[in-house]
Amino acid sequence: MAFTPRGGRGGGDRGGRGGGRGGGRGGFTPRGGRGGARGGPGGGRGGGRGGPRGGGRGAPRGGRGGARGGARGGAKVIVEPHRHAGIFVARGKEDMLVTKNLTPGESVYGEKRISVDAPATGEDGAATKIEYRVWNPFRSKLAAGVLGGLENIYIQPGAKVLYIGAASGTSVSHVADIVGPTGNVYAVEFSHRSGRDLINMAKKRTNVIPIIEDARHPMKYRMLIGMVDAVFADVAQPDQARIVGLNCHLFLKDQGGVLISIKANCIDSTAPAAAVFAKEVQKMREEKIKPSEQLTLEPFERDHCIVVGKYNRSA
Ligand SMILES: C[S@@+](CC[C@H](N)C(=O)[O-])C[C@H]1O[C@@H](n2cnc3c(N)ncnc32)[C@H](O)[C@@H]1O
Repeated sequence: MAFTPRGGRGGGDRGGRGGGRGGGRGGFTPRGGRGGARGGPGGGRGGGRGGPRGGGRGAPRGGRGGARGGARGGAKVIVEPHRHAGIFVARGKEDMLVTKNLTPGESVYGEKRISVDAPATGEDGAATKIEYRVWNPFRSKLAAGVLGGLENIYIQPGAKVLYIGAASGTSVSHVADIVGPTGNVYAVEFSHRSGRDLINMAKKRTNVIPIIEDARHPMKYRMLIGMVDAVFADVAQPDQARIVGLNCHLFLKDQGGVLISIKANCIDSTAPAAAVFAKEVQKMREEKIKPSEQLTLEPFERDHCIVVGKYNRSA
């Protein structure tokens, strides 16, 4: 299958990104994260929407942010399923990517919540509510990738996901919403400081298993993890591909999905981003991961991309 890297902002080339070799057997073409039919939250509108105003990392649009959250969608907001199962789009004044809150009534990191009437009413005839949490693409590379139009994210209801580089659990909490009560997120983070928040988050989201260890030593936590359907990595380390390989060989099932967020200047700040991405893709191949998609994360992150691939144990 052809592998298609996509460049930012319609194939732009800042820092040597974009372009790509396109087409050919085993080749791929970089894709941009912005606009186009795939850009919007529902796969329709431009990518930048649904994030914070002004492009910063602050409060989600349309609200003051902060822990108060709890916006009432009521009649004004309609929530529709995204084409990726477990993810939704709240259509109101502005479209926003959302996930169904596993712990209704609570925000994790001050994100806005939206409550809408459930289609069915309760036994007493009273309307029941479903609560969603706004998923901010400026704070989550996975959300940025979804808005950019990733074809396959392997993270879906019921999936078991190994998340490497969990930090305090901001994105992990949304992954936990997506996989739902029948799935699991094994969240690895080596910083004890971030790990504290991660552990606190996991107290309420019982499908999250926090693991405070260095992902370079997966044998240390092998007893905590069964085989998983997908590995997501965001460690921003020069040896990230090796770290991912070590974990895939131990925990990822054959033909499982791999998603790696690559920050070019964490790997090599002197080379053009496109060259760094290409090298990382080669390293993934050496770890038995066959890349299928590459997407830069602009306008949400500069000089970052996500590469998606499939693990082939027997390669
Ligand atoms: C870019 S941040 C991750 C952000 C997070 N994915 C999110 O979206 O909320 C990278 C994280 O990886 C962690 N990290 C880096 N190297 C690691 C390693 N070898 N093992 C475990 N965690 C690591 C860092 O402590 C940091 O919290």
